[in-house]
Amino acid sequence: MKKFLILILLSLLGIADATYLTFEHYRQVIPPCTVNRFLPIASDCGKVLNSSYSIAFGVPLAVFGIIQYSLLLIAIILLAIYRKKIFTYWLILQSLVGAIFSMYFMYIQIGILKSICIYCTLSAFISFIIFFLVSKIFHKEKILLRLNIIAFVYQKIIKPFFFLFDPEFIHNLMVSRGELIGKTFVKNFLNWKLNYSSKKLKQKIAGIDFAGPVGLAAGFDYEARLTQILYSLGFGFQTVGTITNIPYEGNPYPRLGRLPKSRSLMVNKGFKNIGAKAIAKNLVLSGVEGFEIPLGISIGVSNNQNLISLKDSIDDVKMAFSVFEKTKIKNSYYELNISCPNLINNNVSFYETSGLLQLLQSIDRLKLRKPIFVKMPIDKSNKEFLSLLEVISKFNFIKGIIIGNLFKDRKSPLLDKQEVNKFKVGNFSGKPCEPRSNELIKLTYKKYKNKLIIIGCGGVFNGRDAYTKIKLGASLIQLITGMIFQGPQLISQINLELEELLEKDGYGNIREAVGSDVIPLKKGIQGRLDSRLRGNDKLL
Ligand SMILES: Cc1cc2nc3c(=O)[nH]c(=O)nc-3n(C[C@H](O)[C@H](O)[C@H](O)COP(=O)(O)O)c2cc1C
Repeated sequence: MKKFLILILLSLLGIADATYLTFEHYRQVIPPCTVNRFLPIASDCGKVLNSSYSIAFGVPLAVFGIIQYSLLLIAIILLAIYRKKIFTYWLILQSLVGAIFSMYFMYIQIGILKSICIYCTLSAFISFIIFFLVSKIFHKEKILLRLNIIAFVYQKIIKPFFFLFDPEFIHNLMVSRGELIGKTFVKNFLNWKLNYSSKKLKQKIAGIDFAGPVGLAAGFDYEARLTQILYSLGFGFQTVGTITNIPYEGNPYPRLGRLPKSRSLMVNKGFKNIGAKAIAKNLVLSGVEGFEIPLGISIGVSNNQNLISLKDSIDDVKMAFSVFEKTKIKNSYYELNISCPNLINNNVSFYETSGLLQLLQSIDRLKLRKPIFVKMPIDKSNKEFLSLLEVISKFNFIKGIIIGNLFKDRKSPLLDKQEVNKFKVGNFSGKPCEPRSNELIKLTYKKYKNKLIIIGCGGVFNGRDAYTKIKLGASLIQLITGMIFQGPQLISQINLELEELLEKDGYGNIREAVGSDVIPLKKGIQGRLDSRLRGNDKLL
């Protein structure tokens, strides 16, 4: 309440100052003011108040001052009574208007008239203090407002424009712009204005310090070109790839499509990438000084028709791992993608338990220096999924799983019929993935909560979606499609929203909320249980 009182007093002072100037203007009296002509900038109220700048549209500026401070006062009072976000936003914008105009008027006095009116300067001073206090008190709301404005501009102007063009063209354009920005100071500006992170969202998992719970899923930065920019959008970790040992130019077109009604993307890339060796070079160059946030390398089997037997495919995956292991890349983890549904040249599947077992035994022998997370399919039955988990959970080098990959059922009501019929090939991301991803997170958490860390992925479009996955058992979240539909500000919006939801539920840190909808435990106990898993690898 104290903060509101101070703001009210300042607004009243502003109203009094502006009212006095208005009154004197209409009385045609110049208020008492020291005239000092010896300093470079004179204090001369007459010169300022009689100048043409003191009137706009035939009305003295002081009247606008009364209106400005009165609007501020109303916003403060309404906010103090109703505590609604809309009044906070109003107050922030109103104080910003005051600060901008005050800056302009100070420029006119100092820069053009070379004279200062102490009453006008007092008003500017009050405006600056109000703006400073509002920015400080409502720091979080200010960021939220900024993010909402970016979201509005992206969703109403930029996205409709982008969606007129070929999706792969737009993707390539965005990646090349992002790569460029990552090499300039603009990334620091973006980080300052866009990145919202919070202590409550930081976690240590498998010995890795995750700056935030939201990461970029595999498939967006498949050539590792965005490693220096993503943290400034609020990402807490990032995966590059999926990368294969043998380069692949991508499946025949169409490789990417949009399904706006289904809030989904059609994906048919089939591991388009320039190959492990070339990407390793990129990563060595871009990550000389390391990466701001944990970086993961997603590895899959090459989409190549020369890999005929299971052994060929296993050797191929091992080769890709070896390429990265031989370098000094400072990645924090690997992802093993066993679930790409778009491999048209390679018929070997690691879905079956026997193939998966052989693959994991071979990788185990590599004695990798970094932990592995396995990217799971979501189109398997519970029984099939659990049998895959049984195999995975035998290996200590696997720290967790990502649930999961793309949605395959073209007949599902989760996909708009007309939209899906436009594409004869491919599988689907976004909202259609969400229900099954959530079911499988819950299933896994129930059975393997002390053995496997879960990264929830599929259809996360806002903080609530992310929180649902967390409460079902996911410790971390990954996304792609939400960012394409909602905008690049989405990650910080999710961070902010998550923090609010945690506070509302009385959690001090995100780890306390993990799995709370599946196995409700007393607050804090969950965090402690999980913490046994986090840094202490012996338990895994
Ligand atoms: C354009 C695109 C390319 C993808 N490529 C890969 C990939 O190479 N490797 C992988 O593991 N997943 C890939 N995926 C799947 C995503 O990582 C993610 O599992 C899926 O899209 C669900 O998340 P979302 O709804 O947030 O997009 C791709 C997804 C999209 C949209």
